[in-house]
Amino acid sequence: MRPEPDCRLCGLCESRTNLVLPSGDLDSKVVFVGEAPGETEDLSGRPFVGRSGKLLDKIMQEEGLDRSKVMITNTVKCRPPGNRDPTSEEMAACRPFLDDELYGREAVIGLGRSSCRDLLGYDGKMADIVNTDQSISIKGRDVLFIPTYHPAACIYSKAAREGLRQTIRMVKERFGL
Ligand code: URA
Repeated sequence: MRPEPDCRLCGLCESRTNLVLPSGDLDSKVVFVGEAPGETEDLSGRPFVGRSGKLLDKIMQEEGLDRSKVMITNTVKCRPPGNRDPTSEEMAACRPFLDDELYGREAVIGLGRSSCRDLLGYDGKMADIVNTDQSISIKGRDVLFIPTYHPAACIYSKAAREGLRQTIRMVKERFGL
């Protein structure tokens, strides 16, 4: 199930330009889940193509992980005004689409706090759970969930950048990508 192009399930429809749907290999065993589209993503309709997307691309390239071999999506498919965090109501409205995207995958990589809050129900410090194996249930099926830093957090934090780099290196090795 995908959102209709004129989806009006939550208030984000009022300010969006484009829905931002998953990109990459839509059949990949590994899915990266970010928070929400930003301005560049809203204008282009593609996830992670702005500043944080460029940093994600750079780290993936440096670690030899081809971005087109994984799927990349977000907890919500429309940009929250002013890039605020999506609310729990907005994430709940978009959740059936995310569940369909994640069902039956081998691993879900949660990029940042919103993704971890939505999918893992975790609201604590990222540093306490980054790069640990967690389990989530997607439509009754268990899926491995690995929390990591959001690329936006890596722009100014070297520790976060190294944490995300370690995630990407591990994903490449562990899943043979
Ligand atoms: N930040 C996100 O969480 N997702 C995007 O697609 C872009 C920036």
